[in-house]
Amino acid sequence: MTLVIAGTRGELAAARSALTGTLALVPTMGALHEGHRSLIRRAREAADAVAVSIFVNPLQFGANEDLDRYPRTFPDDVAACADEGVDLIFAPSVAEMYPTEPQVTVKAGPMGERVEGVTRPGHFDGMLTVVLKLFHLVRPDTAIFGEKDAQQLALVRRMVADLNVPVEVVGAPTVREKDGLALSSRNRYLTDADRVTATALSRALHAGEKAAGDGPDAVRTAARAVLDAAASRNPPLLLDYLVLVDPATFEEVAADHEGPAVLAVAGRVGGTHLIDNVPLGFP
Ligand code: PAJ
Repeated sequence: MTLVIAGTRGELAAARSALTGTLALVPTMGALHEGHRSLIRRAREAADAVAVSIFVNPLQFGANEDLDRYPRTFPDDVAACADEGVDLIFAPSVAEMYPTEPQVTVKAGPMGERVEGVTRPGHFDGMLTVVLKLFHLVRPDTAIFGEKDAQQLALVRRMVADLNVPVEVVGAPTVREKDGLALSSRNRYLTDADRVTATALSRALHAGEKAAGDGPDAVRTAARAVLDAAASRNPPLLLDYLVLVDPATFEEVAADHEGPAVLAVAGRVGGTHLIDNVPLGFP
């Protein structure tokens, strides 16, 4: 099948009706990298056809965030999708997605105000609103999200459960550089020196993971030691948070916690906001 690129809701509706069998959607903001491509490959396994949406959603960016300079690499993104055998790209303009200022939006609730929600107020409301709109427009059977954005994945799962959205949500593992840095469209903002400091995030998670046998407090202590060292590097890592949380609620787990948890970290290096996490288990 040839790749169809839909820029309007009308073009999307026509292309969607032409597809037969099941459809998996990979929602993205473009600047596609190997992490996105691994989601596309996961989507291929999940359904007969694959759609990728490419839309930098203004609703999920705060006033002082990087909406204007967010990387836009549409021709390369189309080439990557073609290479991965994607059937349909939906790449609407802002006016196409928000013809009028939205009045009715999705509220993420308490989980959206924790952890990353403290650093980025309103972010998860804007994210869930566009994801629900994309689900209604594209009508996928399955949608693939990366574990890299673990709180986003947990919130999409929660929205789908709470609002009875008929889409199966599938999580896919984080893809990393050789030195451990999680792939991100924002990594292209980093200078070589920033890049070295940024590896502290994944090194901290790895240190925490190795301490998991000694319990939650040992995990937090081991990860914190790596982050403290990176705070005095040049350029420094400015830590936003290090948390060990329940994967379904994103509430901190207690020292005697048993079962799964997520060790999540976020910080800024040279003005770039970076996040990472690793799933852990406490038997
Ligand atoms: P974006 O940052 O482009 O990410 C699109 C998808 O790719 C998300 O599900 C994200 O978790 C996944 N992803 C990013 N880096 C990854 C990596 N290194 N390994 C595996 N998966 C990775 O997340 C968004 O866009 C937006 O919030 C969106 C859901 C599209 C709504 O606007």
